[in-house]
Amino acid sequence: MLELARTRIVLGLTGGIACYKAAELLRRLQDHGAQVDVVMTEAATHFITPTTMQALSGRPVYLDTWDARVANSMAHIDLTRGAAAVLIAPASTDFMAKLAHGLADDLLSTLCVARGEVPLLIAPAMNIEMWLHPATQRNAAQLRADGAMLLGPGAGEQACGEVGAGRMLEPDQILRAVIAHFQPKVLAGKRVLLTAGPTSEPIDPVRVITNRSSGKMGYALARAAAEAGAQVELISGPTALDVPDGVICTHVHTAAEMHQAVMAQASQADIFIAVAAVADWAVAHPSPNKLKKHADGRPPELEFIQNPDILAGVARLPNGPWCVGFAAETENLHENAQAKRLRKGVPLLVGNLVQQSMDADQTELVLFDDKGAHPIMRQPKLDAARALIRAIAQRHPITHPTP
Ligand code: C5P
Repeated sequence: MLELARTRIVLGLTGGIACYKAAELLRRLQDHGAQVDVVMTEAATHFITPTTMQALSGRPVYLDTWDARVANSMAHIDLTRGAAAVLIAPASTDFMAKLAHGLADDLLSTLCVARGEVPLLIAPAMNIEMWLHPATQRNAAQLRADGAMLLGPGAGEQACGEVGAGRMLEPDQILRAVIAHFQPKVLAGKRVLLTAGPTSEPIDPVRVITNRSSGKMGYALARAAAEAGAQVELISGPTALDVPDGVICTHVHTAAEMHQAVMAQASQADIFIAVAAVADWAVAHPSPNKLKKHADGRPPELEFIQNPDILAGVARLPNGPWCVGFAAETENLHENAQAKRLRKGVPLLVGNLVQQSMDADQTELVLFDDKGAHPIMRQPKLDAARALIRAIAQRHPITHPTP
């Protein structure tokens, strides 16, 4: 996915051992289509060479305010004109202090002050004591107040051997944050509640009844909603997926647990998106011990009870959230999906054919609302999720009041 195509980013490196990760970050930005101009402070060149960054970027690396390669010797002005963002990774304690005070004593600090409206993204990287120092915290707060976006820092083992906050985020995390930064904030300030994945209903302590669901679509939607500026709560059945950045996740197993977790949060949500493949039935009396096979080959007798319909329950809540359902069908998508939309009482239902999307990384969706059917073409699930979030933002009554 070339989310950063036609995007030029100024990548600034300052002094810190995390400079070694900046080489990988540069490659990841380029993989997503970005053109990257690297600017390094003198301190950064002690950790990684300009030659490395030049070879990887395929473009000149800038170090010096007086660099004569820029036509009018105005690198501090020219480099940010037309740039989509300035990304400082790693950002040292000293460099953050400089930025907070508007100092301009080298090329990178000067271009930050001269960048005008170009967004500034900062990935701090330093020892935990340096990060926790009141002056650094003051500078971080000042930078946020000045409109910069701080990415991290993360916590963990540090190069100095100490453990705690201050590690630069991993290149993939920074990449995702940069991509998220460029997504339109169509759900800014909204609270979105989602379900995703399968549920798993115990038969005994080792056996379960479940649905086939990777959780990919629900997790992609949670990420897309967070990228769009929403505060996102995800209630997830068992999956092998990482929780998207910035998303709060509650992990559950059974439909009953999912129902309880959703109902506890539904009244605070603006939008509820039910993506989970909820098991329709639970075993009425799961055995506390592992069931043994009968010598005569007789199968166990299982009694089932129907699980609560979570989506229909939320849709019935007075003053509840605006609801979106999913319908995975094997045939007659249009008839089944529209009937399901009316039965569940939701304004929007997203249909897909199981054989086209189950376990796949791509999906083809059809949106059903009171005006009819609206197809979303086959594409990677994250792109489809972003398209769906835009469609939800257009229809959501608080975002766009109907006249
Ligand atoms: O009835 P069916 O399972 O086909 O409906 C699918 C939609 O309803 C999905 O949005 C799914 O997440 C939701 N659902 C639910 N609780 C159930 C069954 C389905 O929220 N018990």
